[in-house]
Amino acid sequence: MTNLYKSIPVRSSEITPKQVYLSRRDFMKAATLATGAALLTACAPSVANASENTGPVPTSDATDELGDKVNSYSDITNYNNYYEFSTNKEAVAPLSKNFKMAPWTVEVGGLVNKPKSYGVEDLLKLFPAEERIYRLRCVEAWSMVIPWNGFMLSKLLKAVEPTSDAKYVRFETLMDKEQMQGQGSPFYPWPYQEGLRLDEAMNDLTILATGLYGEPLPPQDGGPIRLVVPWKYGFKSIKAIVKIELTSERPNTMWQTISPNEYGFYANVNPSVDHPRWSQTTERRIGELSRRATHMFNGYGEQVAHLYDGMDLAKHY
Ligand code: MTE
Repeated sequence: MTNLYKSIPVRSSEITPKQVYLSRRDFMKAATLATGAALLTACAPSVANASENTGPVPTSDATDELGDKVNSYSDITNYNNYYEFSTNKEAVAPLSKNFKMAPWTVEVGGLVNKPKSYGVEDLLKLFPAEERIYRLRCVEAWSMVIPWNGFMLSKLLKAVEPTSDAKYVRFETLMDKEQMQGQGSPFYPWPYQEGLRLDEAMNDLTILATGLYGEPLPPQDGGPIRLVVPWKYGFKSIKAIVKIELTSERPNTMWQTISPNEYGFYANVNPSVDHPRWSQTTERRIGELSRRATHMFNGYGEQVAHLYDGMDLAKHY
């Protein structure tokens, strides 16, 4: 493997008009064709107005900046980790299909000058959706390329004005046992919680996603709003967020509470630090037969390696 810390420079993208996309959308879904278009990047994000909670849609040959094709809508919406619904990836989509995503409020508070509860529709008006085609690498050693629509978390955090004591950001998923049958399981310390260091949260790659393939984010992928942190293992990218809190102390995460030796707070994708049960050297891209090499920071080192200067990443895993 070469250039482990170096990710490929990002290109800005073309946007397919919504009408063009809509006319072929059903076909795409049926045929599970990967399409895609536009690659927007942290460095040169192109922004399109969101309508109906959507954003730019991919053209037919979208790839990530490494040239990897986006996964099909069908792959992305039928193979999901979402323990609130099921530990069976294929069961999440059917079990979540009636999940109520509106009205939905995200409470942003803690160590901030301007705490506020935002309706998801308000967030989209304030921070129009843009497209980000990102690799998602699960700690279970599978991966996908996903065309998200969303906005930079930094925009929301700036709006609430973190105080100088704020060092971390804590995220919480909705708690609703009636709708999410998995939350009846006593084996997990619900609600799902995650956390980032403030500088990680402010990084241009970190987004709150509200859409997928130019459509509102479906429930199984974390709709109506979820975090996406592409250089970290997928479990950091918490779904169905209802609370964002700025803190001075490092927040507890659900997976760390369950198994601190297996799941670290940082969880940066790192091919040279194995999980006790899974080697992280290679990964299986959903839709491919052979395994491929895993890249340090999932290929986003150029944008994020500086966040960890001087840290021993085998220790701070
Ligand atoms: N968020 C919540 N609330 N509950 C979960 O079980 N699973 C995580 C993450 N976010 C999870 C979650 C894991 S392990 C992964 S790999 C990704 O979501 C999967 O996202 P996807 O289903 O959209 O591919």
